[in-house]
Amino acid sequence: MDYSNAPIGVFDSGVGGLTVAREIIRQLPNESVVYFGDTARVPYGSKSKETIIRYSRQIVRFLRTKQVKAIVIACNTASAFALDTVEKELDIPVIGVVKPGAKTAIETTKNKRIGIIGTEGTIKSELYTKYICGIDPEIEVIGKACPLFCPLVEEGMLNDPVTDEIASRYLKDLKEEDIDSLILGCTHYPLLRNTVGKIMGEKVNLVNPAYETAISLGKLLEEKHIRASENNQSEYSFYVSDAEEKFKKFANSIMPFQTDLIEQINIEEY
Ligand code: DGL
Repeated sequence: MDYSNAPIGVFDSGVGGLTVAREIIRQLPNESVVYFGDTARVPYGSKSKETIIRYSRQIVRFLRTKQVKAIVIACNTASAFALDTVEKELDIPVIGVVKPGAKTAIETTKNKRIGIIGTEGTIKSELYTKYICGIDPEIEVIGKACPLFCPLVEEGMLNDPVTDEIASRYLKDLKEEDIDSLILGCTHYPLLRNTVGKIMGEKVNLVNPAYETAISLGKLLEEKHIRASENNQSEYSFYVSDAEEKFKKFANSIMPFQTDLIEQINIEEY
């Protein structure tokens, strides 16, 4: 097989990274994707850096058995904790979701006040803040962990008064911070875009790292001369470490196609 037509490996702690896979499939329709969701060990958001690095290394080893040409760490927490380590150990390109989202927020903020919402791990790591302030030290970054958002999304409670109430509480302080850009810094949060947008108001620009990551991936493949050919028949395969059924239900609710081909593997073997 022509190496350029090899698949892109995308991984996340579970279903959330499908928001990233969905953008890749939309923006780069010739590319094949092998997705791995670590459904047995989710959530990553409350785990330590060491654990997330160990998990990420195992997943990378698994994805390499599928001959991937590049890897996307579709999870914000894993991008924050493991990208640097994994990058040093790999001889194929790898990108995470943090830098593309942060870069767009830097470009769009006018008053230099950016908000970031994510898991506890992502917010505590302060990686978004470090990256943003490394580029423009005048920018103030205000973070807020919203740990209940993931389970609400996974329960399908996207337009629900309970979700509205929880979001109002989480975002109350951020609303008073006069931010003009807000990074949806967790895989699940783009699915709560309407709820968050309603609360934050029109003046706050919502940045979706999933969308920005797909753009960055396209540029990276171009630079490395490994974009799939126009006539490549793209294929999508999905692997999980537990509970295929739940994953399938979620995948089929957000992806632009129905998928039955989801395989469960034992990730601890890698
Ligand atoms: N995928 C994770 C992230 O983007 C959210 C879910 C989790 O905590 O594992 O940070």
